[in-house]
Amino acid sequence: MFSLIVAHDKNRAIGLDNKIPWHLREDLMQFKQRTLHHRIVMGKVTFDGFKRPLPDRHTIVACFPGQEGENSENVTYCTDLIGFLEDNKDTEEEIFICGGASIYKICLPYCRKLYISLVEGEHEADTYFPYYDENDYDIAEVIPYDGFRVVQYVKKEK
Ligand SMILES: NC(=O)c1ccc[n+]([C@@H]2O[C@H](COP(=O)([O-])OP(=O)(O)OC[C@H]3O[C@@H](n4cnc5c(N)ncnc54)[C@H](OP(=O)(O)O)[C@@H]3O)[C@@H](O)[C@H]2O)c1
Repeated sequence: MFSLIVAHDKNRAIGLDNKIPWHLREDLMQFKQRTLHHRIVMGKVTFDGFKRPLPDRHTIVACFPGQEGENSENVTYCTDLIGFLEDNKDTEEEIFICGGASIYKICLPYCRKLYISLVEGEHEADTYFPYYDENDYDIAEVIPYDGFRVVQYVKKEK
């Protein structure tokens, strides 16, 4: 199954100049805690923004053919994202969709759970999380932190 993890503000802003527009240490920590030892999926733009692959996780890097880098023990490039989503949508394993905007948009319909860090305030941004209808989800949990809260949404069965 796929779960999505994102931090967005009240305008659904997620990025500016290829970076996250805020620094929330506790959010990075909860991201790490949730994703550790899981497979995680991210777009090449987001992946290239890290100095090195995130440790103790296997990263699937989505990109178009010709953009791939070298696969390694912790990194697999994927040029068929829809194929990957279709092949893994019924697995028991929780695979995390970690952005950025274009990857969230493609993967959102496949995600049963959303872990959304709702960041207080409005931030200058050039990248936004896609629109989602909160009515499509039940709220399973809300954890408040200083400056943001993490809302866990679970998709309603149709
Ligand atoms: N706040 C958060 O939680 C959060 C999390 C992650 C990222 N971000 C932010 O999001 C921004 C980056 O987002 P982004 O949308 O620019 O980039 P991205 O989603 O990280 O990466 C997009 C990559 O995927 C490729 N791609 C697009 N559609 C595809 C498809 N159908 N199949 C395979 N590959 C495909 C793109 O190719 P082309 O370039 O050729 O289109 C590009 O290489 C940054 O500012 C980052 O900091 C924020």
